[in-house]
Amino acid sequence: MSVDPDKINSASRPELIDFHGVSMVHYFTDNWETVQNFQARPDDILIATYPKAGTTWVSYILDLLYFGQTMPERQTSIPIYERVPFLEIFAPPVISGTDLVEGLSTSPRLIKTHFPVQFVPKSFWEQNCRMVYVARNAKDNMVSYFHFERMNRIQPDPGDWSSYFQKFMEGKMVFGPWYDHVNGWWKKKQTYSKLHYMFFEDLVEDTGREIDKLCSFLGLSPSAEEKKQITGEVQFDNMKKNGMANYSTLPVMDFKISPFMRKGKVGDWKNHFTVAQSEQFDEDYRKKMRDPTLQFRTEICKKGFNIYLHSYCHMRKASQHCIAQNNKVKCHQSTVYLHTNSINTTLDDSKISRLIVAEGVRKGAFSSGLVFMGLNSPLCAELCETIVNQFKNSP
Ligand code: A3P
Repeated sequence: MSVDPDKINSASRPELIDFHGVSMVHYFTDNWETVQNFQARPDDILIATYPKAGTTWVSYILDLLYFGQTMPERQTSIPIYERVPFLEIFAPPVISGTDLVEGLSTSPRLIKTHFPVQFVPKSFWEQNCRMVYVARNAKDNMVSYFHFERMNRIQPDPGDWSSYFQKFMEGKMVFGPWYDHVNGWWKKKQTYSKLHYMFFEDLVEDTGREIDKLCSFLGLSPSAEEKKQITGEVQFDNMKKNGMANYSTLPVMDFKISPFMRKGKVGDWKNHFTVAQSEQFDEDYRKKMRDPTLQFRTEICKKGFNIYLHSYCHMRKASQHCIAQNNKVKCHQSTVYLHTNSINTTLDDSKISRLIVAEGVRKGAFSSGLVFMGLNSPLCAELCETIVNQFKNSP
């Protein structure tokens, strides 16, 4: 079975419904029985995400890792949404995710879902299937979802930005609240070892490193040449141009409103959130995101590393984050964590205060854990240098 784009083009915008306590639209619930009774195979790989967290990116990486060498023609002839079918989508006679999966002749089968963890068909757990979950920071995820709903007629009408902003915080989104989704899957990871939890921001920061981690999870060992080729092919500009990866073959999406491959950036939320919205969002976020081991980055540093500044009362969170990232942890009263090279070092409080003043960051804004970003000021550069030197000189 393949997707008939002309038929899906006539689809109308659906209403949000409450489905087992999660906001959904009928396109993803109408096939519920069949989806729930879906028979997974032990080598199936489930790619799970909240919508707009990097599903297509990771789907494409996995498809290249498994079939890039053996079935190269796939890349130029079959759109990504047929190579990696969306399990729960159901809009007959145009598309049925389960039919697409059943029609796959590949092994393994790569299957996409946006289900919150409690909706995943039980056979995936019974068969002990590998799963890859991709999460993206809430602010960028919200912005991306907003533009996606504007351009995609099988999503509800998003309305204007400020009402969308409220709806996102209230969790009135297709596939439910972002907060429950990322937390639910994160919790599952603690008990289900075949789940690889990745972050969109890490992929942007260092795609090659994340592909390495994926390979070790999947038990793959591509050659250095192959890895380099894949890393190049999945860069944003290349995927944006790639008609088999950019969804341009689905007329239900109106690229004149917004392209599917829109910006692919970390931090685009700053072009959408007002300062007041950002503060309101952060306050609400703190109440909802209580697990200190799950931390997101809303910015990454162009220079290749990030500084995470923490005031004393957030040291616990910071160290837990570092543990989660497998970093070495040494807690001091005020610590700067360099994310990518797994070290920490100390700075005295006066420098931190100067930095806070220089960047106009209020101390109170630090409570979400990962805090400091935007390393463009000379003072930041100076601090980076100090830190790097400390690192070089440390045993
Ligand atoms: P933006 O709207 O912020 O640009 P999904 O595949 O889950 O629907 O996610 C789509 C988002 O991932 C879009 O975000 C898209 O641009 C981004 N994306 C897809 N491929 C990417 C890549 N190779 N590099 C960076 N971002 C990518």
